Amino acid sequence: MCFAGLVVLSVVFAGCRGSEQLRFPAEFKFGAASAAYQVEGAWNVSDKGENIWDRFVHTQPHLIAGRGNGDVACDSYHLWRRDIQMCEELGLDIYRISISWSRLLPTGYPNVISEDGKNYYNNLIDGLLEKGIEPVVTIHHFDLPQSLQDLGGWANPLIADWYVDYAEVVFSLFGDRVTYWVTINEPFILCEATYTEFLVPYYDDPDVGRYLCNKNVLIAHAKAYRLYDERFRSKFNGKLSLSTLFFWFEPAAPEEQEMTDLMFEYWEGRYAHPVYSKEGGWPVKLEKFLDDKARKEGYSQPRLPPFTPEEIDLVRGTYDYFALNHYTTRLVRRLRPEEREVMWPLIGSTELGAIMVHHPSWVTVNDWFALYPEGLRKQLNWLNTTYDLKEIFITENGIPLGPELDDKLRVEYYRSYLEQILLAVHDGVPVTGYTAWTLMDNFEWRSGYTVQFGLYSVNFTDPLRTRTPRTSARYYANVTRTRMLYP
Ligand code: NOJ
Repeated sequence: MCFAGLVVLSVVFAGCRGSEQLRFPAEFKFGAASAAYQVEGAWNVSDKGENIWDRFVHTQPHLIAGRGNGDVACDSYHLWRRDIQMCEELGLDIYRISISWSRLLPTGYPNVISEDGKNYYNNLIDGLLEKGIEPVVTIHHFDLPQSLQDLGGWANPLIADWYVDYAEVVFSLFGDRVTYWVTINEPFILCEATYTEFLVPYYDDPDVGRYLCNKNVLIAHAKAYRLYDERFRSKFNGKLSLSTLFFWFEPAAPEEQEMTDLMFEYWEGRYAHPVYSKEGGWPVKLEKFLDDKARKEGYSQPRLPPFTPEEIDLVRGTYDYFALNHYTTRLVRRLRPEEREVMWPLIGSTELGAIMVHHPSWVTVNDWFALYPEGLRKQLNWLNTTYDLKEIFITENGIPLGPELDDKLRVEYYRSYLEQILLAVHDGVPVTGYTAWTLMDNFEWRSGYTVQFGLYSVNFTDPLRTRTPRTSARYYANVTRTRMLYP
């Protein structure tokens, strides 16, 4: 069915149900998201520097499913006009992109600003704005310059200053046209990914690296926020946030509530609490739990590097909105004696002695992904009552499926998750925008091209990287145009 046909259909359905419940507020922004390494390709074009993903896929290709890499990916570096056209076809208000640090600053430092890198992002941003689509910009999305990784990357406290120097260039070049900024994408995954065996295994040192990274990411984010306040806010009046991956956790049985709370603090609170809570600093129960564990294991240092009181103040309150990446819900329970603790793929934790499972009634896609849309509404309400938030923006939400064009389950996923968002808005939660992950199939990190999240499918064997809308793209276009959901 064509786009127009579906628009008519949705109007009819909405008319039949006569329900204002189904309508999103006029100012609600709909969008889609992508990230530089996952779509751009052109990994060594012009003076672009090498980043950790370039190095990883070229030196350890066997660790990527199907030996895929992002050398060409969706070739968005060359096909950005087509990407904008797709955003138009979908009727998007916003498109969330990320800047590649090593494309803009080939050495990793601001001593060299790439003209071609600058032109690429200027063209993309201006091209979107010409079509009335607002760019939402993520400053860092997993693709650290290799030069900085060689110096310890996110485990080195100096990274906060390297990051702020980079962010300053980004704000200076693009700040006049960008309102919504995400400073650093999903720091939990960034740190777990780089310092455990998951994603880019630079240091397989899960006891130390991930926690150093944890603190350094927070300081980097906060310093960039403070810099924006001092130098750019009065001119540009943008909104900044650290995007946080939140799965909704529920106890697998009533006696698992305590472990569920700890799991929440471990996954999400470690990043959210220092920034969004009134008191700031590490989540208290988790800090104690990890300290006790470290002591028992004979470490002289605590796992979570302590904050000074000045650092707590530096980090606390550094947000203008809450950038939420939400995908799914998990049930949490302690491991049974015969079970082995596994961190990945995203089903446990190497620290807590816990595991995550799905409820038998949920539709599941794989080990780590189930549909439980009510979890998102609960999460939104929880965020709204736990933190003092004026605005929540859902910066990612999507489902991994196969290559099929008629992706009915994705339609159901978007319909049911959007419905829960609408219900949360009716509950009084200030959700102002939504970006679907993702505009088109792309390089899904260690999974390569073996799972698809796209509203558009991409033919990766075709040099033109032809993009074709899926059923879900037509569905979503309908939602964005009518601001309504239909069955
Ligand atoms: C979150 C990440 O930000 C994005 O890069 C990734 O592709 C999606 N989740 C799906 O796993």
